[in-house]
Order: sequence, then structure tokens, then C-alpha cells
Amino acid sequence: MMKSTAIANSNIALIKYWGKRDQNLFLPQNSSISMTLDGLNTTTTVEFDSKYKEDEVVINGKRAEGKVKDKITRHIDIIRKKAGITERAKIVTQNNFPTAAGLASSASGFAALTLASSRAAGLDLNEKELSILSRMGSGSACRSVVGGFVKWVKGREKDGSDSYAIQLAPPDWWDIRMIVLVIESGEKKIKSRAGMQKTVETCPYYRCWLDTIENDIEEVEKGIKERDIELVGQAAERNALKMHALMFTTIPPIIYWKPETIKAIEEVFKMREEGIKAYFTMDAGPNVKILCTSNESEKVRKVFESREYIKQVIVCPPGEGVREVNEHLF
Ligand code: PMV
Repeated sequence: MMKSTAIANSNIALIKYWGKRDQNLFLPQNSSISMTLDGLNTTTTVEFDSKYKEDEVVINGKRAEGKVKDKITRHIDIIRKKAGITERAKIVTQNNFPTAAGLASSASGFAALTLASSRAAGLDLNEKELSILSRMGSGSACRSVVGGFVKWVKGREKDGSDSYAIQLAPPDWWDIRMIVLVIESGEKKIKSRAGMQKTVETCPYYRCWLDTIENDIEEVEKGIKERDIELVGQAAERNALKMHALMFTTIPPIIYWKPETIKAIEEVFKMREEGIKAYFTMDAGPNVKILCTSNESEKVRKVFESREYIKQVIVCPPGEGVREVNEHLF
């Protein structure tokens, strides 16, 4: 049988996905927009062979068992069914950044897994098909299939056939940076999957999120088209705060913020007062990500590198979508 290796970049949402309308197919309540990040990536090698008695999963050098392994095996089952094969697989995957720290490792992970496993199974899927399949591993993964500035269109169909990611602009369209400030690199306690479901079920403001999201999306789309950092930054920052307001008012509350999170945000506000066009966003974790132009990114990087409460500063330009590579991990 065949072996294939794929590399996928992570992505950070400018307009967030928070809430599903279908738990099994991973269909979102709202559309979202992201930037694919060069530099935060996952490489995955998959081999199907009758010599494997069961699926074997190795993540960052460690044998995966339990829930993590089950999630991956379930995804591989979808690919096996589609390709009409029954062989078990060996899957080796390597992230170049901390796993499950709000740095969207599941996004790059499932995008790489989908491409590598589908190619290893002999399938030749197009971008839309890869995006739909990646979505079924982790919603945000459907956006990592595509490079540059990306929209996950929520779709209307019950079967999810119109819920996938499309490119709004290629990586070289706009020279901006997403600067990731690592505040905590440990695994988060509440996974986004469980958290967003609780929000949909219990948050009294969820209706308001849905009522205002299309406006946020329009602003960010317009801002990307016009390369307007203020328009995109302001809309993205507001949208991230709105998502965290939903989390705070979910029962029980979901609070990812740490004292260092607030410190970093205050520094971003201070930079803006000084004329630097920097805007923040946050995901399901305490880390803060800063959007700014490439010209101003050095200044921002230097400030945060000198702060002892920030563990790591990672500067990411817009990156490519998922692709196959020749070098295998085993
Ligand atoms: O698809 P998941 O389970 O990685 O959820 C992603 C949720 C957020 O990162 C908070 C928002 C987003 O759109 O990426």
C-alpha cells in the first residue's frame, strides 16, 4: 500500500466559529474568517498496510491512546470507507508548536491528516472535498486546507455538502503578521468542542452573537479586500471579545483568561495610543494573538520579548494551504 506525508499550517480566526448546528457533521452556526499562519504547522505521515494489526498513532514522539487515538481512528475510518479499503494504518504526526494551547493544533492536525490519509488510501480529492472531510475531524481544520485569507462558509444543507472553506485572498495578497504570545503552553481544561456546545445550550446572549455576526464578517471581508488593517483589526478584536463574553455567560462559565492575558491586552491598547496599529484576538485559551502590519511587527515583537510574563513570541506571516511533501516521518 501507499504512504503519504502532508504538511498543514495552523490558522487563527479573525471572525470566530463558536457553536455547531450539527454535532456529528461539525456544521457551524455561523460562517467564520481566518488567516492561515506560516510557521505553525503539523506534518503527518500515514501508511495503510496489512502488516498493521491495528491503527497505530504517534503524536510528537509519543504513542497516542484513549480519546485522542479514537478521534484519529474515527477520522481514518471515514477515509477508509470512502476509498473502499480495510487495511489498518500507522500515523505519525509532529507539531512544531505546543499542542492544545489555543494554538489550533487540531486545525493543522486534521488538515494534514486528511490529505496524507486520503492520498495514502489512493484518493485524489480536490480542495473542497478535503475541506469538508477535515471539518469532520475539527471544525476549524476545514480552514487550514486553504492558504492565505480564508472564509468557512457555514452552508445550509443538512448533509454539510456546502459547508467548507474558500480562499478570500492568497497569502501574498497582504503583508501582515499574526504575532502569537504564548502565556501558557499546557493543555487547556475545557476543549472547544464541549465549551461551544454548552454556550449554544445555555448562553442567553447567543442569539445576539448570531444576529451580529454577518455584519462582523462583512467588515473583515471588506478590510481584507482593501488591505485596511484598522478595519480588520477593530472588527476582529470586537468579535473575539464578543466570543469571550459568550463564554463568560455560559453555564457553567468558561473562563480562559489569566492575569497575563489582561496584561498583554493592556499593552496592545497602550501601543495603539502610541500610534501602532496593533489589534488582539484570542481563542479557547489564555494566549493572546496580535494582528499588525509587517512594518510594525518588529516593534511589537521586541516589546513582548522583553516581558518576563510572556513565554514565547511567534511571528507568523500569511501561509499556504495544506500540501503533500516527499519526506516521510517514518
Ligand atoms: O474547531 P475547533 O474545535 O478547533 O474550534 C475552534 C474554536 C476557536 O478557535 C475558539 C474559534 C475559531 O474559529 O478558530
